[in-house]
Amino acid sequence: MKCDGKHDTCSSRDSCSRRVLDLQDEKIRKNMSKIKHKIGILSGKGGVGKSTVTVNLAAALNAMGKKVGILDGDIHGPNIPKMLGVEDVQPHVDEHGIYPITTPEGIKVISISYFLPARDTPVIWRGPKISGAIRQFLSDVVWGELDYLLIDTPPGTGDVQLTIMQSIPDMDGVVIVTTPEEVALQDARRSVAMAKMLNIPILGLIENMAGFVCPYCNKVVDVFGKGGGERAAKELGIDFLGRIPLDVKAREAADKGIPMVLLDCPASKAFKEIVEKIVKKIEG
Ligand SMILES: Nc1ncnc2c1ncn2[C@@H]1O[C@H](COP(=O)(O)OP(=O)(O)O)[C@@H](O)[C@H]1O
Ligand SMILES: [Mg+2]
Repeated sequence: MKCDGKHDTCSSRDSCSRRVLDLQDEKIRKNMSKIKHKIGILSGKGGVGKSTVTVNLAAALNAMGKKVGILDGDIHGPNIPKMLGVEDVQPHVDEHGIYPITTPEGIKVISISYFLPARDTPVIWRGPKISGAIRQFLSDVVWGELDYLLIDTPPGTGDVQLTIMQSIPDMDGVVIVTTPEEVALQDARRSVAMAKMLNIPILGLIENMAGFVCPYCNKVVDVFGKGGGERAAKELGIDFLGRIPLDVKAREAADKGIPMVLLDCPASKAFKEIVEKIVKKIEG
């Protein structure tokens, strides 16, 4: 948002940019007030399944008849359009704002990838620009009335997470995703600590890639160890939402733009149980 120099309270450049931020905060508040529930998906570590959890949570909620939107907050690695099979489309933009893409099932999506010149163009931005993009998505996207807005994030406890937690009023909470091994759990603990510091409720922890059923011998192989997520949740005093196994079908589906909850596979079954828990926590 650019300053038009007409703010009667502006006495200097500093106070003017503060006023612009205040106006944007007001716009965010108004836009977010039309959405019943706002949930962030976090993990300390990359590649543990945040985007997978986001698209499958969206697809499961959509299948329950809820109106769902996804804000792809991973500015450097936007994967949501590919995982939902809505990559080669262009959002409409007019004086009312940015209109999200709608998937054939009815899930609304916005991602920085729609504004890049090519699919593989890297976004080489520093923090303030990243925060600016997230805030513009929060203030200017015409979501309309939604039951749920899910916000996918990059790994870590940086600009995106901070901007989301500080800019969205009355967030329902965050879901923490981890894999079972200690290296991922260490980072997950940092995400939990950040949410606690910012007084954002933690809906619970999901342990993804928990065990792999060998297609040749049917033995379960615990590639990343066993039970780490549940132990960490207990230790951190947060709810354990469940574990999702490593499942070849789930990965194949994601690469084809199909959420695995729409398939019949072990990961899908596990995921549906987790969604029920989340909905019960939020809607009672
Ligand atoms: N339970 C699972 N079984 C098989 N593949 C999975 C599972 N969870 C995630 N994946 C795959 O692992 C990769 C990383 O997952 P992703 O959701 O992109 O992680 P993140 O968003 O945390 O970086 C993706 O290719 C995804 O399809
Ligand atoms: Mg991701």
